[in-house]
Amino acid sequence: MKRIAVFASGSGSNAENIINFFTYDPNVSIPLIISNRKDAYVHERALKLGVNSLTFAKKEFDETEKVLSALNEYKIDFIVLAGFLLKVPQNIIDAYPQAIINIHPALLPKFGGKGMYGSHVHEAVVASGEKESGITIHYVNENYDEGSIIFQAKCDVTPDDTPETVANKVHELEYKYFPEIIKNLL
Ligand code: GAR
Repeated sequence: MKRIAVFASGSGSNAENIINFFTYDPNVSIPLIISNRKDAYVHERALKLGVNSLTFAKKEFDETEKVLSALNEYKIDFIVLAGFLLKVPQNIIDAYPQAIINIHPALLPKFGGKGMYGSHVHEAVVASGEKESGITIHYVNENYDEGSIIFQAKCDVTPDDTPETVANKVHELEYKYFPEIIKNLL
């Protein structure tokens, strides 16, 4: 049995999709969601799904002690970042070698790095006239969006697309592929 914690900073639609995907999987349990924002909608989803959710402020993440002790308490062996916007501190990376993955809403190495998250990514993709975008699932290292790439999937970007329509296409890819890739990695 593998035990996953999902880290999310905002809406948490990927967190919900992943939890639903594994509901009846006897080999996977998702007992914990961790956020850095108390008001994130992901907490409401967690409540509805019957999953415990905790909030740690940025300072607590940087100090890592409380976060690591929560991960130990819940016996977590794998961490999934799904719309999590803080950099993961080195202590946490060291505690979970090759066991922390992130999803990025574009085709890395393009449109990654600090400040490139959520709608900012799709705005940049449209503004630069890209013909395609997509998702990148990658291992997490000490730099934003630079860990080794596990999987990518593409969607078309047409002249009619807006950041919102690109976001919708990218979300569809995320919902379709992210749980499957997690399952394969476990
Ligand atoms: C997702 O599109 C995810 O790829 C992106 O934030 C969104 C969260 O949506 N992550 C990043 O931009 C990380 N750099 P959700 O909260 O509804 O799952």
